[in-house]
Amino acid sequence: MYYPEEVVEEIRQKNDIVDVISGYVRLQKKGSNYFGLCPFHNEKSPSFSVSPNKQMYYCFGCGAGGNVFTFIMEYENYTFGEAIQYLADKAGVTLPEVEYSEEAKKKESRRAKLLEANKEAAKYYFYQLRTEQGAIGHKYLQDRKLSEETIKQFGLGFSLKYSDDLIQYLRKKGYPEDIIREAGLANVDEQHGMYDKFWNRVMFPIQDINHRVIGFGGRVMGDGKPKYLNSPETPIFDKSRNLYGLNFARTSRKNGIILCEGYMDVIAMHQAGFNQAVASLGTAFTSGQANLLRRYTEAVYLTYDSDEAGVKAALRAMPILKEAGLSGKVINMQPYKDPDEFIKNMGAEAFQERIEQAENSFFFSIRMLQRDYDLKDPESKTKFHQEIAKRLCTFQEEVERDNYIEAVAEKYNIGFENLRRLVIGYAAKTGLVSEATRPKSGIQSKQTPQDATKRTQRLFLTWLVEEPKLFEKIQRYITPEDFTTELYKKVATKLFDDLEMNRFNPAAIISMFTDEEEQKEVASLFNTKLEQLETKQEREKAFHDIVVNVKKNSYEQASANLGADVNALTKVIEGKKALQELEKTHIYLD
Ligand code: CTP
Ligand code: MN
Repeated sequence: MYYPEEVVEEIRQKNDIVDVISGYVRLQKKGSNYFGLCPFHNEKSPSFSVSPNKQMYYCFGCGAGGNVFTFIMEYENYTFGEAIQYLADKAGVTLPEVEYSEEAKKKESRRAKLLEANKEAAKYYFYQLRTEQGAIGHKYLQDRKLSEETIKQFGLGFSLKYSDDLIQYLRKKGYPEDIIREAGLANVDEQHGMYDKFWNRVMFPIQDINHRVIGFGGRVMGDGKPKYLNSPETPIFDKSRNLYGLNFARTSRKNGIILCEGYMDVIAMHQAGFNQAVASLGTAFTSGQANLLRRYTEAVYLTYDSDEAGVKAALRAMPILKEAGLSGKVINMQPYKDPDEFIKNMGAEAFQERIEQAENSFFFSIRMLQRDYDLKDPESKTKFHQEIAKRLCTFQEEVERDNYIEAVAEKYNIGFENLRRLVIGYAAKTGLVSEATRPKSGIQSKQTPQDATKRTQRLFLTWLVEEPKLFEKIQRYITPEDFTTELYKKVATKLFDDLEMNRFNPAAIISMFTDEEEQKEVASLFNTKLEQLETKQEREKAFHDIVVNVKKNSYEQASANLGADVNALTKVIEGKKALQELEKTHIYLD
């Protein structure tokens, strides 16, 4: 545990979950809960619920869930400790000196140190840009038409022509070598020992959504190779889950996000007022990045370079955007190569027009496809139409599919009915449709007996949390020992203790765990979907069955362990008795 339990509790209680989540997700009240579109997966109708009573959130679509700390951890990409600090700050709670566990202390302080070292390095590079030796870098940026204000906003800097000036600087500041190395700021080899990773380059600090420097890109001035050198992945730098410029773009309040290829494009765009521009980090666009964008926007405008590599990159990004539920559009920058050049030559207004004229990504992909076919040749033309039909199959919804069929038919002068028949033919052959059958999150694979046991235990715990009064009725039959996995047992022990003392606070139980995945699992124990039963009689029977099954599973497990586990015998005897008694007992639900 990072902080004393009471402090964690105080912070949690002072941050009402509905208030906090409302800052991120539009919620609507339905019955006693609030619902909204889940920020953690793509959906069209709300299955993300927030319960003011339980002070928990849970998504019935993807299984994301937890208390207010979990939400901040997941959304802001914070550790438990960082989420506590953030929410303490928000509620005006002063945190005591931390009482870290050894392991937590190590992990947390290592991350903090890496962040600090990066920040310190960014400050150093930023300073060097304004020294005599850095003037060449400064001039390079000025020649590329960046204003002082822009240079400052993005914290651009310069790495000098020495092989270890940064290392020396950081050492003096007290950073040990292993931190400097782990932060990706230095390399080591046998011949030279440790030396600066970046050398004689213009430096672009890469920030996460909370403006913390997590890595760097360094560009040569001129034509040297490699053009860019980037920090390696580190514990704080995950290239597939961050985007350059998103720290500014997330609050731009524009319609859509503009996805470009490079750092320079992003910076040029922001300078021209397009502060909704972001870029991936020297790697291909990933689904992690798409999901990140999905939190802030519904539409993504691609402005990849207009060369063949750019077209390829755009075509690769499209299915990723679609999978994340984002609509993709392509901005045409002809006759220029990239947004940086376009804006320099044509200005912001012209670019705004290009945004408005952006091409729907499906049309774009068909237009690119067409280049491979000769439409004057009937055979080739037929193949082209067949390929179009195949691609039209990827639209799940009939209305949407028909709309696309109609639009494409008109554009390429194909008979609507012909094209439709072709699509239906393919759909029948291949099944609608390859992508659709690929399960997303929350995959329902085959249930094992262990899964069934756990599910029963979850149903039981959820029911108990919904109706804590029932505790006194089941107390004599069920004990925390009946839960068959460690995590469940730990949760049940705390919940039973609380209920015994007439305290009821399931959200606090989540804070006993510092790991996001564990918190999520605990949340699922309290948020299993209970069947909606009409009559009291049905409900009583359902609850009785659940109680019996929890006991039965535990009894069976104990029986199987006879001989191996010294406590098993007692459990078996007790279990048998409890089951016999339960058989004769009616549990009233009021
Ligand atoms: N990139 C990289 N390593 C390289 C070349 C490119 O990591 N050797 C990444 C960088 O993130 C770069 C992006 O790919 O920003 C796009 O590359 P490019 O278009 O070549 O660079 P620009 O950012 O457009 O820079 P410039 O305008 O200076 O050419
Ligand atoms: Mn470029």
